[in-house]
Amino acid sequence: MFGRSVPLAHSLLRNVPAGVGLRRWASTKTLRETLQEVIPAKQEQLKKLKAEHSQTVVGEVKVENIIGGMRGLKAMLWEASVLDPNEGIRFHGLTIPDCQKVLPPAPGGKEMTAESMFWLLLTGRVPSPNESSQFSAELAEKAELPAFVENFVDSLPRTLHPMTQLGMGVAALNHDSQFQAAYERGIKKSEYWTYMLEDCLDLAAKLPALAARIYRNVYHPDKAIAPVDKNMDLVGNYSNMLGFGHNESLTEYLRLYIALHGDHEGGNASAHTSHLVGSTLSDPYLSYSAALFALAGPLHGLANQEVLRWQMAMQKEIGESVSHENIRDYLWKTLRSGQVVPGYGHGVLRNPDPRFIALQEFCKARPELQASSMIQLVQKTAEVAPDVLKEHGKTKNPFPNVDATSGCVLYHYGLTEFKYYTVIFGVSRALGALTQLVWARALGLPIERPKSYSMDALEKLIKN
Ligand SMILES: CC(C)(COP(=O)(O)OP(=O)(O)OC[C@H]1O[C@@H](n2cnc3c(N)ncnc32)[C@H](O)[C@@H]1OP(=O)(O)O)[C@@H](O)C(=O)NCCC(=O)NCCS
Repeated sequence: MFGRSVPLAHSLLRNVPAGVGLRRWASTKTLRETLQEVIPAKQEQLKKLKAEHSQTVVGEVKVENIIGGMRGLKAMLWEASVLDPNEGIRFHGLTIPDCQKVLPPAPGGKEMTAESMFWLLLTGRVPSPNESSQFSAELAEKAELPAFVENFVDSLPRTLHPMTQLGMGVAALNHDSQFQAAYERGIKKSEYWTYMLEDCLDLAAKLPALAARIYRNVYHPDKAIAPVDKNMDLVGNYSNMLGFGHNESLTEYLRLYIALHGDHEGGNASAHTSHLVGSTLSDPYLSYSAALFALAGPLHGLANQEVLRWQMAMQKEIGESVSHENIRDYLWKTLRSGQVVPGYGHGVLRNPDPRFIALQEFCKARPELQASSMIQLVQKTAEVAPDVLKEHGKTKNPFPNVDATSGCVLYHYGLTEFKYYTVIFGVSRALGALTQLVWARALGLPIERPKSYSMDALEKLIKN
């Protein structure tokens, strides 16, 4: 798949913005060398924007933006991806299908690796297979957890939600933050990003070991955890440590899910949290730990476990042979009870989520998934729900989002503990959030401080 896509890759990369460069197929530059190359151009771009356009108006602020969760406000700089309401996400100009064609897979696999996506997000360049595998090796080298973090996580009660454990474990890793130590020593502002990068790589490398340890502690405490394999990609190792290394289909699914879920521009709650906390010059461990607690909310990352719970309840109530009519009735029952339909709607998107489409394509290519009654139910629900939600008339986007299908595939392949699903999302979303922390420091972005108003002050503002 990868070899065949070379000419296509070049045409796709025409969309990559100026300054981020084209792929060098035989290149073996390190990530640091590549960043050293691309950062000056971006710094220059920002300098020019500031000098020439600081006072240019690009939108307006309405009262509905202020009271409506800042939706639609153009108010953040975020480098790695931009979300178009109709077309969906683009990573440095590349769509999900583009990425599936040009990003290198793991040896023996077909799906793009998390590290090739991470490289693209960080540098704006598609890594060569050599660069990607060297990057895998570097991350595997850093993957083991410090003993005190292992002991800390092992001491947590099994009944503590896995997301709470993940956030606490990530925060504890800041014990070894290079950025924090360098800041205390008194480094120059222009050097911030280099230490930030080291911490971000360290955290991305260690997240799978931490997340897998939590899974094993909570659900399979009697089984030993596989050690990190230095020759394996990030997700291959994650799957192995979870205890699913033998399950190539699940490992491939995890690769796809983790890569395509890695970033969704900056305004979503977890990404924005990480950016906000990072803007205070907190280190990446503390910044991303805070982001994980935003991800743990049911309207954000927890939706993937909610979807499965909801679809299972539907299956239990109406049985295995389900008609569109049955599903329609069940959807109305959910809506009339005042609940949201999990897996549908989006804060920005106004069309079916291309991440949902990519995961559906994965399912369609696998006979065992097509035969699963749960996957069939998800597909049938997606055929009925948009019309019901349109008739209901509230949601601005009646189409399925990525979570409509993500958990059901994990369940089919034997990862059945759905309280854990948001942790996998947390491993994935680090790719984008950590990328932005590096860029925010490389570009010298300031501490965030938007203006707030009380209702009285707002009314006064309206009068004047
Ligand atoms: C994702 C989500 C939080 C976006 O919220 P939002 O930006 O406020 O969405 P909208 O502007 O379309 O919301 C307008 C109204 O439609 C409702 N709505 C949105 N999605 C809905 C859904 N799937 N089912 C029922 N009602 C929905 C909202 O609750 C809101 O109702 P309100 O006016 O009574 O408060 C929302 O669509 C949702 O709750 N979806 C279900 C959970 C989910 O799948 N989350 C994962 C997202 S990737």
